[in-house]
Amino acid sequence: MARFKSAILGATGVAGQQFIEALLGHPWFEISGLYASERSAGKKYGEACTWRSPAPLPDAIAGTTVRLTDRILDDIDQYDIIFSALPSDVAKKSEGDCAALKPVISTASAFRYEDDVPILVPEVNAAQAPLVRRQQKERGWKGYVVPGPNCTTMGLIVSLKPIQDTVGIKRVWMTSLQALSGAGYPGHPVLDTHDNIIPFISKEEGKVELETVKTLGSFADGNVIPAPFKVSCTCTRVSVLDGHTLSVFVETNAPFTPEDYLAAVAEFNKKCAAEFGDLPSAPKQTIVMKKEENRPQPRLDRDLEGGMATVVGRVRPDPALDNGIKYVCLSHNTKKGAAKGELMAAEYLHKIGLFPA
Ligand SMILES: NC(=O)c1ccc[n+]([C@@H]2O[C@H](COP(=O)([O-])OP(=O)(O)OC[C@H]3O[C@@H](n4cnc5c(N)ncnc54)[C@H](OP(=O)(O)O)[C@@H]3O)[C@@H](O)[C@H]2O)c1
Repeated sequence: MARFKSAILGATGVAGQQFIEALLGHPWFEISGLYASERSAGKKYGEACTWRSPAPLPDAIAGTTVRLTDRILDDIDQYDIIFSALPSDVAKKSEGDCAALKPVISTASAFRYEDDVPILVPEVNAAQAPLVRRQQKERGWKGYVVPGPNCTTMGLIVSLKPIQDTVGIKRVWMTSLQALSGAGYPGHPVLDTHDNIIPFISKEEGKVELETVKTLGSFADGNVIPAPFKVSCTCTRVSVLDGHTLSVFVETNAPFTPEDYLAAVAEFNKKCAAEFGDLPSAPKQTIVMKKEENRPQPRLDRDLEGGMATVVGRVRPDPALDNGIKYVCLSHNTKKGAAKGELMAAEYLHKIGLFPA
């Protein structure tokens, strides 16, 4: 079968490189064009980017000439789909221009909060995927934009979903310990981050609070109705390369024990395997539970299931809540929380007939 031709915008950055890694050898999509800023345009990809992955960069990709994102419309007929890993301020125009003609799957936040845009994570909110038809109808687009959530939101919503599906959620508190790669390349100066924790990430807390209730919201009459609970978070940057760790406290609508959570996760994993197990990027186990009292740890656990697992451990009763539990959660921010997670969303859109648009 001929594979769908894809362009990657922001291909030289942290998330863009992960799109390349996830797409190499993919059975449904092939890499047909690489785009970045004026800094990189005209250079060979291997010269333009600092390749971060231990996986080797194939010669064919290293030798590809990077093109200018601002000129993507000149080439757009060559592509079936656009994967975007652009900074959000740039993404608004470029992704909108492309979506008028082709499906755009994005790691950027530019369109996440618009009413007709699903923040699509199949295991969490597959029901919201048909929102893309509203974009086509109301905006007159032939394509659409489908962003993923913020990389910190990702671990939180996947780990909360089995609770929402069983007992229901009243309130959530979360403190993140986010990896350095979440800030892009080259990121923070090492003198700021080594031996240190930075207790502030611009706009991050508001994004997580909004996106959690949108993604876990219901879908009726073409609209997302946000989930009826509040989320409060503190986001920090720590000296870890990849993998965001979250300390989560959940107040539930009724009594809910750690054993109940284990049972709910087992059921959720079974459902995900049945519904999404045929997608090439899907993990076998959506949530991997760790029984050891000192796990999950980013260095040991972030690459489970090819970086697509949400790893949960330290599930305990919460003595400060009438009903509720607390736990620690880990999610790979550049894989599940960015490119590979978005690729799985594209695979799902293909499976349900929304791609090609
Ligand atoms: N890093 C993560 O863990 C993560 C996770 C989830 C979502 N995201 C989101 O993914 C997007 C990319 O993040 P990142 O971490 O990959 O950032 P990054 O490492 O800084 O990469 C940014 C990319 O965008 C390109 N770019 C910058 N300015 C541009 C312009 N004016 N026109 C065209 N291209 C431009 C850069 O090209 P040059 O190399 O040519 O400058 C580079 O390819 C952001 O929206 C971010 O919020 C990131």
